[in-house]
Amino acid sequence: MIPAEVTVDYNDTDQPLPKAELIKRLQGKDGLICHIISTIDDEVLAAAPNLKVVANVAVGYNNIDVAAATRRGVVVTNTPDVLTETTADFAFTLLMAAARRVVEADAYARAGQWKAWKWDLLWGADIHGKTLGVVGFGRIGRAVARRGLGFGMRVLYHDTVRADPATERALNATATDMDTLLRQSDFVSLHTLLSPETRHLINERTLRLMKKTAILVNAARGPVVDEAALVKALSERWIAGAGLDVFEEEPKMHPGLVGLSNVTLAPHIASASGETRIAMATLAVRNCLAVLDGKPPITPAR
Ligand code: GLV
Repeated sequence: MIPAEVTVDYNDTDQPLPKAELIKRLQGKDGLICHIISTIDDEVLAAAPNLKVVANVAVGYNNIDVAAATRRGVVVTNTPDVLTETTADFAFTLLMAAARRVVEADAYARAGQWKAWKWDLLWGADIHGKTLGVVGFGRIGRAVARRGLGFGMRVLYHDTVRADPATERALNATATDMDTLLRQSDFVSLHTLLSPETRHLINERTLRLMKKTAILVNAARGPVVDEAALVKALSERWIAGAGLDVFEEEPKMHPGLVGLSNVTLAPHIASASGETRIAMATLAVRNCLAVLDGKPPITPAR
């Protein structure tokens, strides 16, 4: 799909280029296709004056200084829509795995601990009929709510923008303030973008508002949760459990998380189905080529 006249300088390692190397490789380049592990700040943009487009292979783009890019006339694009359902699938997977203790059950079975049937073995929490709190009611949040609907769940949501009444009706969803959502939900699933307003939205104060039986799911961005406070909440059982796909300082995880049995951990793979990762890459390439062709981007970041 890449036209023959386009030259590609491909970093085929899994490592982000160090900033100096990235700047060197960007010399004379018109477009950049990158992942969330590359920080594209004003310094990088200033050092790459030919650059017309930065195409992120992700829906979130907090790794890019969009204001600086706009100031410099560089278009920023992301990959919404193509990953919505896959990411929602995984958020719900974490929710279910945490509620029904799937990882603990697997470890128990593999370790040969299963010697006899036991009445009270690995009791978890029901999912059906419970209250699902969705924080950030955009594309992915709504797709998670739709999954909740299939489980007969009541949905509470919190967002800066109220959904239209038809959407609320269709998803059996009620808008609430954040504290009410935290107090009433059995499952709290985070789907907000990362911004100064959402950094540490889940912190010691807000964790203490949650039910003791509640489970927190984060497949959005790590820094939305104060990880040290979450470790405390999980160890001291202020809440029952968590399912995490994202962390504050990836690929590091707070050392306190690893020893806890009531948290299910995943290495930022919510959009990682083969089909969706290919669709994301394809969309990023199409965005980049469109801008280089003088056309409007397909999915500009906004
Ligand atoms: C992944 O984290 C994404 O934003 O697509």
